[in-house]
Amino acid sequence: MKVLDAKFVKEFIKTTELGFSLGWHERNGGNLSYRIKTEEVESVKENFVAKEWQGIGTSVPALANEYFLVTGSGKYFGNVKENPEENICIIELDDKGENYRILWGLVNGGRPTSELPSHLMNLEVKKKIDPDYRVVYHAHTTNIIALTFILPLKDEVFTRELWEMATECPVVFPDGVGVVKWMVPGGKEIAVETSKLMKQYDLAIWAHHGMFAAGRDFDETFGLMHTAEKSAEILVKVLSCAPQKRQTIQPDEFRQLAKDFGVTLPEKFLYEKEAKNLNSEKELEINVY
Ligand code: 13P
Ligand code: ZN
Repeated sequence: MKVLDAKFVKEFIKTTELGFSLGWHERNGGNLSYRIKTEEVESVKENFVAKEWQGIGTSVPALANEYFLVTGSGKYFGNVKENPEENICIIELDDKGENYRILWGLVNGGRPTSELPSHLMNLEVKKKIDPDYRVVYHAHTTNIIALTFILPLKDEVFTRELWEMATECPVVFPDGVGVVKWMVPGGKEIAVETSKLMKQYDLAIWAHHGMFAAGRDFDETFGLMHTAEKSAEILVKVLSCAPQKRQTIQPDEFRQLAKDFGVTLPEKFLYEKEAKNLNSEKELEINVY
């Protein structure tokens, strides 16, 4: 089968198109990876031509000898649909999980995304917890980024605020959201910090940069990113209208929701908020948390 006829490749391309249409992928912003199933590799491997081995920049032994479909570094999501072979590639890892080689794609040259260490370390953590996890998606989600300038960079605060802004959120991401303070992107250090959070969460925010989502398939992963970003958009809108919320969902109401929807919501996110004196100048600063 031609690579572009494979279902997983079509779904990958559709995901880049959806993200681009929502404005999360200015220029070459964002990247996407998919851990390819054995039978899917078999179905397209007749097209593979191996290039030379290159270092990943980190070590992912639990992913040794696996195959991935990834976006190219410096490539624009907006161009993937029209020219997939120029903008995405299939790579294979060596038997130590330390090197990769390109087998298909990037026909005009290039290399996989500069965030390959983060993608692979996240996929490795997720595979160890649940082998069905296959997708990692990084997007420059505008409203989540905006909130990293005004909310404390704490998992508890971001989780609670996102949960409050859309009732579906605690059901869609009951484990919560992790936050990585600002770090230089593109290397092992930020990959290590992000993959630590991926042990607990399916979503990790990069302060002043964007977000990573992980999931079992493209719909689930994209849907997760979309849900969190929409919730952030609602909070940005609310804070643009008023310095505080007049009413919101309360901890006991979350507990009731958890019971009815059969999800477990960690108590660390259901903290009591202090009553604020909104008459003082200081408290009129953003005080949603
Ligand atoms: P790449 O073009 O290398 O994928 O980088 C884009 C990006 O968003 C870096 O964080
Ligand atoms: Zn980025």
